[in-house]
Amino acid sequence: MPHFSASVPGKIILFGEHAVVYGYPAIAIPVNKVQAKVVITPNIYAAEHTVIIIAPDVGIHNDLDKLPIRNPLCDVIQRVKTELKVDSIPSCTIKISSTIPVAAGLGSGAAVSVAIIRSLSGFLGRPLQDEIVSNIAYEVEKIHHGTPSGIDNTVVVYNKPVYFIKNHPIEQLVPWQPFTIVIGDTGIKVPTKDTVREVRQKWEKNQRKLEILFSAIGSITRTARQSIKKGDWEQLGPLLTENHALLQELGVSSKELDHLVDEAIKAGAEGAKLSGGGKGGNIVALTSIEKAEVIASAIEKAGAVRTIITTVK
Ligand code: PMV
Repeated sequence: MPHFSASVPGKIILFGEHAVVYGYPAIAIPVNKVQAKVVITPNIYAAEHTVIIIAPDVGIHNDLDKLPIRNPLCDVIQRVKTELKVDSIPSCTIKISSTIPVAAGLGSGAAVSVAIIRSLSGFLGRPLQDEIVSNIAYEVEKIHHGTPSGIDNTVVVYNKPVYFIKNHPIEQLVPWQPFTIVIGDTGIKVPTKDTVREVRQKWEKNQRKLEILFSAIGSITRTARQSIKKGDWEQLGPLLTENHALLQELGVSSKELDHLVDEAIKAGAEGAKLSGGGKGGNIVALTSIEKAEVIASAIEKAGAVRTIITTVK
């Protein structure tokens, strides 16, 4: 039987998280070792317009009509129907699976949304263009994140490193030569929505202080963009660590994240920082390809539940 499928990578932020929500730049890369996959199979034997959603990772095996309307899976499907001006979907099974850890700063929500949008618009005979796919996923991100910057949906849709400023045209970042990143997961799941809200409350109380921090993060990110373009890894590593110090000041680090960052650097990483919303989730460390395994083992020994070595190109 024909089926329609889409696989979409995870992502990780290298520079500029939180500041990006306030209009400063950020840099993020796709992580292809983890993927969200959606497969849609027509179901000719089911009653008309019966859509079955199977998402074992989140314990869903149900008729679409039975899911709460605010469920992000329902929301994304509804948005595709609205975009394509389609009233109902022919009977089918939508199977969603993902190897992207959730609530860990790896963009799992955005990747699942994009995989649904692509496979469903294909199934309905009108594949949507990347820009529209990204816009729809951004709207769904609001359920996950509250006030998202849009960086997650952008990176996973285009599957390229990006230099991102909210509401600006996307700038693809082409490194001078490939470089290696080790990602290490604290195993602590903290919804991005929570840390974004906490930062917003701090900003409302002390706008001046927070803008100083954001502006310093912004200038690190701009320098990092040049280092990546020039292949200046000696400069790039310390910039990661400086960005981490500013995130500590912002109050979004934790002792577990700080410990993984310290151990990565002790093991020989050029620099390291927390990545994403913070308080839990992942760190990223810059390394040469030769040292990557050693750094990954050091991070695991320091308590990381998972490490991923990825090459940025
Ligand atoms: O936790 P993540 O990787 O989904 O990223 C959150 C990044 C923030 O800047 C904190 C929020 C955002 O929407 O950009």
